[in-house]
Amino acid sequence: MLNILALISIISFVVGENALPDDFIRCRQKDSKLNECLKTAVPDALRKMTKGIPDLSVPPLEPLRVSGMNIESGAGPVTITQNYRNIQLHGLTDSILTSYKADLKHHRLRTDSLTPKMEFVADYVMKGRILVLPIQGKGVANITMLNLVVKHDLIGEPVERDGQTYMHMKDYKVKFIPQRVLLHFSNLFNGDKRLGDQMNLFLNENSDLVFNELKESYEKSLSSVFQDVTNKIFDKVPMNRIFPED
Ligand SMILES: *[C@@H]1O[C@H](CO)[C@@H](O)[C@H](O)[C@H]1NC(C)=O
Repeated sequence: MLNILALISIISFVVGENALPDDFIRCRQKDSKLNECLKTAVPDALRKMTKGIPDLSVPPLEPLRVSGMNIESGAGPVTITQNYRNIQLHGLTDSILTSYKADLKHHRLRTDSLTPKMEFVADYVMKGRILVLPIQGKGVANITMLNLVVKHDLIGEPVERDGQTYMHMKDYKVKFIPQRVLLHFSNLFNGDKRLGDQMNLFLNENSDLVFNELKESYEKSLSSVFQDVTNKIFDKVPMNRIFPED
Protein backbone atom coordinates (compact mmCIF):
# COMPACT_ATOMS: atom_id res chain seq x y z
CA MET A 1 0.00 0.00 0.00
CA LEU A 2 2.69 2.43 1.01
CA ASN A 3 4.67 1.53 -2.08
CA ILE A 4 1.76 2.32 -4.35
CA LEU A 5 1.23 5.69 -2.67
CA ALA A 6 4.92 6.44 -2.99
CA LEU A 7 4.78 5.48 -6.65
CA ILE A 8 1.75 7.65 -7.30
CA SER A 9 3.37 10.65 -5.67
CA ILE A 10 6.53 10.13 -7.67
CA ILE A 11 4.53 9.90 -10.89
CA SER A 12 2.54 13.05 -10.13
CA PHE A 13 5.74 14.81 -9.17
CA VAL A 14 7.34 13.88 -12.48
CA VAL A 15 4.23 14.84 -14.46
CA GLY A 16 3.91 18.12 -12.58
CA GLU A 17 7.37 19.22 -13.68
CA ASN A 18 7.14 20.85 -17.03
CA ALA A 19 10.01 20.20 -19.35
CA LEU A 20 10.72 20.50 -23.04
CA PRO A 21 9.87 17.33 -24.95
CA ASP A 22 12.82 14.91 -24.73
CA ASP A 23 13.58 15.05 -28.43
CA PHE A 24 14.09 18.85 -28.47
CA ILE A 25 17.70 19.95 -28.92
CA ARG A 26 19.01 21.65 -25.76
CA CYS A 27 21.31 24.67 -25.98
CA ARG A 28 23.40 25.33 -22.88
CA GLN A 29 23.49 28.89 -21.51
CA LYS A 30 27.28 28.89 -21.35
CA ASP A 31 27.79 27.34 -24.77
CA SER A 32 30.25 29.57 -26.61
CA LYS A 33 28.30 28.69 -29.77
CA LEU A 34 24.87 29.33 -28.20
CA ASN A 35 23.62 31.29 -31.22
CA GLU A 36 24.69 28.55 -33.64
CA CYS A 37 22.99 25.97 -31.44
CA LEU A 38 19.73 27.97 -31.40
CA LYS A 39 19.84 28.43 -35.17
CA THR A 40 19.48 24.65 -35.44
CA ALA A 41 17.39 23.97 -32.35
CA VAL A 42 14.56 26.44 -32.96
CA PRO A 43 13.59 25.34 -36.51
CA ASP A 44 13.96 21.73 -35.34
CA ALA A 45 11.53 22.49 -32.49
CA LEU A 46 9.11 24.20 -34.90
CA ARG A 47 9.00 21.06 -37.03
CA LYS A 48 8.43 18.93 -33.94
CA MET A 49 5.53 21.21 -33.00
CA THR A 50 3.75 20.59 -36.30
CA LYS A 51 1.01 18.80 -34.37
CA GLY A 52 1.45 20.86 -31.19
CA ILE A 53 2.51 19.76 -27.70
CA PRO A 54 -0.67 18.85 -25.79
CA ASP A 55 1.16 18.61 -22.42
CA LEU A 56 2.16 22.26 -22.67
CA SER A 57 -1.06 23.33 -24.49
CA VAL A 58 1.00 24.37 -27.49
CA PRO A 59 -1.39 24.35 -30.46
CA PRO A 60 -0.54 22.63 -33.75
CA LEU A 61 1.67 24.91 -35.84
CA GLU A 62 0.71 23.39 -39.19
CA PRO A 63 -1.53 25.10 -39.82
CA LEU A 64 -1.46 27.60 -36.96
CA ARG A 65 -5.04 28.67 -36.27
CA VAL A 66 -5.85 32.17 -35.13
CA SER A 67 -9.40 33.06 -34.18
CA GLY A 68 -9.56 36.51 -35.68
CA MET A 69 -8.11 39.90 -36.35
CA ASN A 70 -9.47 43.32 -37.21
CA ILE A 71 -7.56 45.85 -39.24
CA GLU A 72 -8.42 49.51 -39.49
CA SER A 73 -6.09 51.01 -42.04
CA GLY A 74 -5.55 54.72 -41.72
CA ALA A 75 -5.61 57.61 -44.09
CA GLY A 76 -3.03 56.54 -46.70
CA PRO A 77 -3.76 55.44 -50.27
CA VAL A 78 -5.16 52.20 -48.89
CA THR A 79 -8.03 52.76 -46.47
CA ILE A 80 -9.72 49.48 -45.75
CA THR A 81 -11.55 48.04 -42.78
CA GLN A 82 -10.84 44.33 -42.72
CA ASN A 83 -12.11 41.63 -40.47
CA TYR A 84 -10.57 38.17 -40.63
CA ARG A 85 -11.95 35.05 -38.93
CA ASN A 86 -10.85 31.38 -38.87
CA ILE A 87 -7.33 32.30 -39.88
CA GLN A 88 -4.98 29.49 -40.90
CA LEU A 89 -1.27 30.16 -41.28
CA HIS A 90 0.54 27.57 -43.38
CA GLY A 91 4.28 27.26 -43.84
CA LEU A 92 5.74 28.43 -40.53
CA THR A 93 7.29 25.06 -39.81
CA ASP A 94 9.33 25.24 -43.03
CA SER A 95 11.18 28.28 -41.67
CA ILE A 96 14.92 28.38 -41.29
CA LEU A 97 16.84 30.85 -39.15
CA THR A 98 19.49 32.95 -40.85
CA SER A 99 20.77 34.60 -37.70
CA TYR A 100 20.34 34.35 -33.97
CA LYS A 101 21.41 36.75 -31.24
CA ALA A 102 20.62 35.51 -27.77
CA ASP A 103 21.40 37.71 -24.79
CA LEU A 104 20.09 35.55 -21.98
CA LYS A 105 21.47 37.83 -19.28
CA HIS A 106 19.11 40.55 -20.50
CA HIS A 107 16.38 38.09 -21.54
CA ARG A 108 16.57 39.27 -25.12
CA LEU A 109 16.35 37.08 -28.22
CA ARG A 110 16.73 38.42 -31.73
CA THR A 111 16.49 36.27 -34.80
CA ASP A 112 15.85 36.49 -38.53
CA SER A 113 13.84 33.73 -40.14
CA LEU A 114 13.20 32.85 -43.75
CA THR A 115 9.92 31.18 -44.66
CA PRO A 116 9.83 30.01 -48.30
CA LYS A 117 6.04 30.24 -48.54
CA MET A 118 3.72 31.56 -45.86
CA GLU A 119 0.02 31.30 -46.64
CA PHE A 120 -2.50 33.29 -44.68
CA VAL A 121 -5.96 31.92 -45.46
CA ALA A 122 -9.06 33.25 -43.72
CA ASP A 123 -12.70 34.21 -43.95
CA TYR A 124 -12.77 37.94 -44.56
CA VAL A 125 -15.12 40.87 -44.65
CA MET A 126 -13.76 44.15 -45.99
CA LYS A 127 -14.81 47.57 -47.12
CA GLY A 128 -12.81 50.56 -48.16
CA ARG A 129 -10.80 52.18 -50.86
CA ILE A 130 -7.52 51.47 -52.65
CA LEU A 131 -6.17 54.55 -54.43
CA VAL A 132 -9.36 55.75 -56.11
CA LEU A 133 -11.08 52.39 -56.29
CA PRO A 134 -13.76 51.28 -53.85
CA ILE A 135 -13.41 47.70 -52.66
CA GLN A 136 -15.77 45.54 -50.68
CA GLY A 137 -16.38 41.84 -50.23
CA LYS A 138 -17.01 38.89 -47.96
CA GLY A 139 -15.45 35.52 -48.73
CA VAL A 140 -12.15 33.71 -48.43
CA ALA A 141 -8.85 35.61 -48.49
CA ASN A 142 -5.52 34.08 -49.42
CA ILE A 143 -2.48 36.27 -48.77
CA THR A 144 0.66 34.35 -49.68
CA MET A 145 4.10 35.69 -48.91
CA LEU A 146 7.03 34.22 -50.83
CA ASN A 147 10.55 34.11 -49.38
CA LEU A 148 9.37 35.94 -46.33
CA VAL A 149 12.09 37.29 -44.07
CA VAL A 150 10.81 37.95 -40.57
CA LYS A 151 12.87 39.89 -38.06
CA HIS A 152 11.88 38.79 -34.56
CA ASP A 153 12.77 40.79 -31.45
CA LEU A 154 11.74 39.10 -28.20
CA ILE A 155 12.04 41.04 -24.98
CA GLY A 156 11.67 38.93 -21.89
CA GLU A 157 11.75 39.38 -18.15
CA PRO A 158 12.52 36.95 -15.36
CA VAL A 159 9.51 35.78 -13.38
CA GLU A 160 10.06 33.85 -10.12
CA ARG A 161 7.51 31.21 -9.21
CA ASP A 162 7.78 28.26 -6.81
CA GLY A 163 11.52 28.70 -6.52
CA GLN A 164 12.00 28.59 -10.29
CA THR A 165 12.86 31.34 -12.76
CA TYR A 166 10.79 31.61 -15.91
CA MET A 167 11.65 33.78 -18.90
CA HIS A 168 8.34 35.46 -19.68
CA MET A 169 8.19 37.30 -23.02
CA LYS A 170 6.64 40.68 -22.30
CA ASP A 171 7.09 42.01 -25.80
CA TYR A 172 7.49 40.39 -29.21
CA LYS A 173 8.11 42.58 -32.23
CA VAL A 174 8.22 41.39 -35.83
CA LYS A 175 9.02 42.96 -39.17
CA PHE A 176 7.86 41.24 -42.33
CA ILE A 177 9.96 41.55 -45.48
CA PRO A 178 8.46 39.35 -48.20
CA GLN A 179 10.13 39.05 -51.58
CA ARG A 180 6.73 38.82 -53.19
CA VAL A 181 3.11 38.92 -52.04
CA LEU A 182 0.25 37.19 -53.85
CA LEU A 183 -3.27 38.24 -52.90
CA HIS A 184 -6.58 36.61 -53.67
CA PHE A 185 -9.98 37.57 -52.30
CA SER A 186 -12.93 35.40 -53.35
CA ASN A 187 -16.41 36.83 -53.72
CA LEU A 188 -15.55 40.51 -54.01
CA PHE A 189 -18.37 42.91 -54.87
CA ASN A 190 -21.11 40.48 -53.84
CA GLY A 191 -19.76 37.84 -56.19
CA ASP A 192 -19.59 40.01 -59.34
CA LYS A 193 -17.01 37.91 -61.17
CA ARG A 194 -15.84 40.54 -63.64
CA LEU A 195 -15.29 43.22 -60.99
CA GLY A 196 -13.76 40.66 -58.62
CA ASP A 197 -11.27 39.37 -61.20
CA GLN A 198 -10.30 42.93 -62.13
CA MET A 199 -9.76 43.89 -58.51
CA ASN A 200 -7.66 40.78 -57.78
CA LEU A 201 -5.54 41.58 -60.83
CA PHE A 202 -5.18 45.19 -59.68
CA LEU A 203 -4.25 44.11 -56.13
CA ASN A 204 -1.52 41.82 -57.43
CA GLU A 205 -0.13 44.41 -59.82
CA ASN A 206 0.11 46.79 -56.86
CA SER A 207 0.86 44.24 -54.19
CA ASP A 208 3.90 46.13 -52.88
CA LEU A 209 1.80 49.21 -52.23
CA VAL A 210 -1.14 47.26 -50.83
CA PHE A 211 1.04 45.14 -48.59
CA ASN A 212 3.09 48.09 -47.34
CA GLU A 213 -0.05 49.85 -46.22
CA LEU A 214 -1.33 46.80 -44.37
CA LYS A 215 1.98 45.39 -43.18
CA GLU A 216 2.01 47.09 -39.80
CA SER A 217 -1.41 45.72 -38.88
CA TYR A 218 -0.43 42.20 -39.94
CA GLU A 219 2.83 42.49 -38.00
CA LYS A 220 1.04 43.62 -34.87
CA SER A 221 -1.57 40.87 -35.01
CA LEU A 222 0.85 38.09 -35.84
CA SER A 223 3.47 39.15 -33.31
CA SER A 224 0.91 38.70 -30.55
CA VAL A 225 0.17 35.22 -31.91
CA PHE A 226 3.89 34.36 -31.91
CA GLN A 227 4.21 35.80 -28.40
CA ASP A 228 1.37 33.59 -27.12
CA VAL A 229 2.89 30.44 -28.60
CA THR A 230 6.34 31.30 -27.20
CA ASN A 231 4.94 31.99 -23.75
CA LYS A 232 3.05 28.68 -23.78
CA ILE A 233 6.51 27.16 -23.41
CA PHE A 234 8.44 29.89 -21.60
CA ASP A 235 5.77 30.44 -18.91
CA LYS A 236 5.60 26.73 -18.14
CA VAL A 237 9.12 25.43 -18.52
CA PRO A 238 11.68 27.01 -16.18
CA MET A 239 14.43 28.91 -18.01
CA ASN A 240 17.18 26.54 -16.85
CA ARG A 241 15.30 23.65 -18.43
CA ILE A 242 15.08 25.42 -21.78
CA PHE A 243 18.69 26.62 -21.58
CA PRO A 244 20.49 24.23 -19.21
CA GLU A 245 23.06 25.90 -16.99
CA ASP A 246 25.69 23.22 -17.36
C1 LIG B 1 -3.11 30.44 -51.75
O1 LIG B 1 -2.40 31.05 -52.80
C2 LIG B 1 -1.19 30.40 -53.15
C3 LIG B 1 -0.46 31.25 -54.18
O2 LIG B 1 -1.29 31.63 -55.22
C4 LIG B 1 -1.49 28.99 -53.64
O3 LIG B 1 -0.30 28.31 -53.96
C5 LIG B 1 -2.23 28.23 -52.54
O4 LIG B 1 -2.61 26.95 -52.99
C6 LIG B 1 -3.48 29.01 -52.10
N1 LIG B 1 -4.05 28.33 -50.93
C7 LIG B 1 -5.35 28.08 -50.80
C8 LIG B 1 -5.77 27.38 -49.55
O5 LIG B 1 -6.17 28.39 -51.62
